[in-house]
Amino acid sequence: MRIGLFDSGIGGLTVLKEFIKKHPNNHYVYFGDTKNMPYGNKSKDELFELADKSIQFLIDKKVDIIIIACGTISSNIDDRFKNKYDVPLIDIISPTIDYVSKFNYDNIGLIATSMTIKSGAFTSGIKDLKVMECPDFVPLIENQQLDSEICDLKIKEYLEPLKKDKIKYLILGCTHYPILENKIRTFFDNDIKLINMGSVLSESLKIKSGHETKLELYFSKINDQLISNVKMIIGDEEIKLK
Ligand code: DGL
Repeated sequence: MRIGLFDSGIGGLTVLKEFIKKHPNNHYVYFGDTKNMPYGNKSKDELFELADKSIQFLIDKKVDIIIIACGTISSNIDDRFKNKYDVPLIDIISPTIDYVSKFNYDNIGLIATSMTIKSGAFTSGIKDLKVMECPDFVPLIENQQLDSEICDLKIKEYLEPLKKDKIKYLILGCTHYPILENKIRTFFDNDIKLINMGSVLSESLKIKSGHETKLELYFSKINDQLISNVKMIIGDEEIKLK
């Protein structure tokens, strides 16, 4: 099966990684819109326009389904947008909302981009959710500043209120955030269960597999930083410019 995935940058690679683990032997086509990243503060109109371009690109690559590996796009599109295309679009957030609702967890937190939180998609689906917008995480991740003082300060600023609320589960509502997983765990003294949307989605989807795993990775802007980010998440794969 040919599976397309897209995101604003490298975040969706954390979803791709889960899919390769769970559903190997498929042909994956990935697009990261690094030229227009971050998406987290863009208007709905801008997000629709960028999503449309990514979807058209993946349709031209003859994919059978498209995974919207971006929490910001997933939480802001509606069914009318989803139904515009001949290829099925799978959003990344609905399976996580279903999963969390089913288990009736208490004390759940959500960290995500500003536009994801503002969309209300998670809060309308999960009751008593404690939410926090983390606008600076994506640029810090893409720019490889995870070991900087500013990153530690931002982690404290964003996560301290959730720690005070004694949350037990934390939804990583942006697909970039699994890259921060270790830092988040450490901040919570390892006393937290992190919910990775890529993992939940890949577990919930039934996919007919082929004979070999193939990857095609496209980005709208490529530089040395991106090359080393891709290597860190996925390994030594060829990267092409869209
Ligand atoms: N990885 C994205 C998400 O899941 C994009 C965030 C951004 O570009 O700000 O929301």
